[in-house]
Amino acid sequence: MKIFKRFLLLVTLTISQLVSAAMPANKQVLNDAYTYSNYDQVITTHLYLDLAVDFDKKALTGFAELSLKWLSNDVENVILDTRDLVVHKILAQNSQGQWQKVSFSLAKRDHVLGAKLTINTKFKAKKLRIYYNSTEKASGLQWLSAEQTAGKEKPFLFSQNQAIHARSWIPIQDTPSVRVTYNARITTDKDLLAVMSANNEPDTARDGDYSFSMPQAIPPYLIAIGVGDLHFKAMSHQTGIYAETNVLDAAAAEFDDTQAMIDKAEKMYGKYRWGRYDLLILPPSFPFGGMENPRLSFITPTVIAGDKSLVNLIAHELAHSWSGNLVTNESWRDLWLNEGFTSYVENRIMEAVFGENRAIMEQALDAQGLNYEIAELAPGDTQLYIDLKGRDPDDAFSGVPYTKGQLFLIYLEKKFGRDRFDAFVLEYFDSHAFQSLGTANFVKYLKANLTHKYPNIVSDEEVNEWIFEQGLPTYVPKPTSTAFSTIDQQISQWINSEVELEQLPTANWTLHEWLHFINNLPLDIKIERMAALDKLFDLTHSKNAEIAHAWYLLSVRAGYDVVLPAMSKYLIAIGRRKLIVPLYKELAQTEQGKSWALKVYQQARPGYHGLAQGTVDGILNK
Ligand code: BES
Ligand code: ZN
Repeated sequence: MKIFKRFLLLVTLTISQLVSAAMPANKQVLNDAYTYSNYDQVITTHLYLDLAVDFDKKALTGFAELSLKWLSNDVENVILDTRDLVVHKILAQNSQGQWQKVSFSLAKRDHVLGAKLTINTKFKAKKLRIYYNSTEKASGLQWLSAEQTAGKEKPFLFSQNQAIHARSWIPIQDTPSVRVTYNARITTDKDLLAVMSANNEPDTARDGDYSFSMPQAIPPYLIAIGVGDLHFKAMSHQTGIYAETNVLDAAAAEFDDTQAMIDKAEKMYGKYRWGRYDLLILPPSFPFGGMENPRLSFITPTVIAGDKSLVNLIAHELAHSWSGNLVTNESWRDLWLNEGFTSYVENRIMEAVFGENRAIMEQALDAQGLNYEIAELAPGDTQLYIDLKGRDPDDAFSGVPYTKGQLFLIYLEKKFGRDRFDAFVLEYFDSHAFQSLGTANFVKYLKANLTHKYPNIVSDEEVNEWIFEQGLPTYVPKPTSTAFSTIDQQISQWINSEVELEQLPTANWTLHEWLHFINNLPLDIKIERMAALDKLFDLTHSKNAEIAHAWYLLSVRAGYDVVLPAMSKYLIAIGRRKLIVPLYKELAQTEQGKSWALKVYQQARPGYHGLAQGTVDGILNK
């Protein structure tokens, strides 16, 4: 057996050597249409950032030094991505180590891609030093005044690079096909702390001058910075919280299962390779739930519910330490490889830490959400391998890569059994560690290591249907929770007046049961029933951001205006797109709703991140 395995290894090695001999050395294929960079000719291997944070000007000023590796003999231009940067001068270092000024041109700004920066190095520079500053317009940064923060005393800055916003504060080859290690020196006000997706030292001196190092190669969308009145609280030897003081303790209590999540994930998917895992709690204007910046996930405060009911978000961002950060989608058309795998791994972590019932409820909630979403989406946007058609990747964002991707993997898991499927996923992560790949290469790998390895279980046609076709296959797994079936019966009994509201066993309901209940009440529910629910449970003032969201959505649909004052506060306080966008969309369905929404938005808009502003502007045609 051993000998046979060795023989196989030899054969595979020889084949891959033959294949690579036929290709020019280091040949990169340009699969990412969202970068101007000539990353098939030259790649950045290391980045050094030296930036001063200026809260008055809302600018980062300094230089970026790029170490280059040339893949091609006949080119000497370096093309980088930028957006709304002011470039002062560029120096290039030759092979003797001398620096000299080189010419460059900054093209006209494209509304999706930004401005192409062409640098005429005239020789194969080893390093480039670009002196620049970012501007107030930077799409990847949000600058908050002191009044906009939780503590109200000091300003706050955070970045959100995914998908193509790194270029708005770093001149770089902004594609997930290129990976860099990085170092940084960040200077800021003495009383502020800067953190990055790098080695943060919990006991660093707070002197306004901070150094970072990220020795593992990551794509530019994972370079991240946060600056504010931040403090640290440890949760375990490996995990801790960075946050403003007033949420620090609550966050540390809410997320104290993070270490258990890491431990469980390592058992299933291999070692956590990034050292520490800390969480940065952002102001409520953060436009996402979370962002998987390596070693330091960025987290919305809207998941601090007091009962750990929304911590699947942490499991999700942690799961990206394998799917996304270690094994990376090579372009934004392949986002499902990041998010579908991550949603699957997230749910496996939740199952391992909190049990099967909760994991299934979370699957069922997401599956129902996906069905509603697919009904609304343009058919082309329901493919896993999406055709972005030149649009801004942010505009094509949906639950499809997440939940359809997850359902595909659940399908494979059920077909092949956990033992074989888990071994496949573990090996997939391991064999592609610190690499980027696209859908086509994934399909090849899937066939070789799962669907053809164990033949006649899942056909090529089925694989293709999942990945390249629209909507959901007829044989899509349907996560069913018995707890939810019970709720369905209770809803119909109450709506048919067979039981009183007081008789429902709500005292034992989890957040998930509440969400399923609210989401499955009839859309034409009578105002009296809404009022009765509110009287008993005060859903209008729920402290749980997801419950409030679901309740407001139903209220707008049902015309239950009692929620308006509370919903207005909610829309002004929170800038997380997932929680606010569906509400604006629903409000915009009627004239009256839209004019109310416009009034609220006028107050809310200045506090929102540019990304959320863009989306809501579109909905209300501002
Ligand atoms: N990486 C994403 C956020 C993202 C995706 C930003 C695409 C820009 C472009 C992050 O990991 C994420 O998926 N967050 C979700 C978490 C949820 C599914 C648990 C969110 O923000 O809601
Ligand atoms: Zn994600």
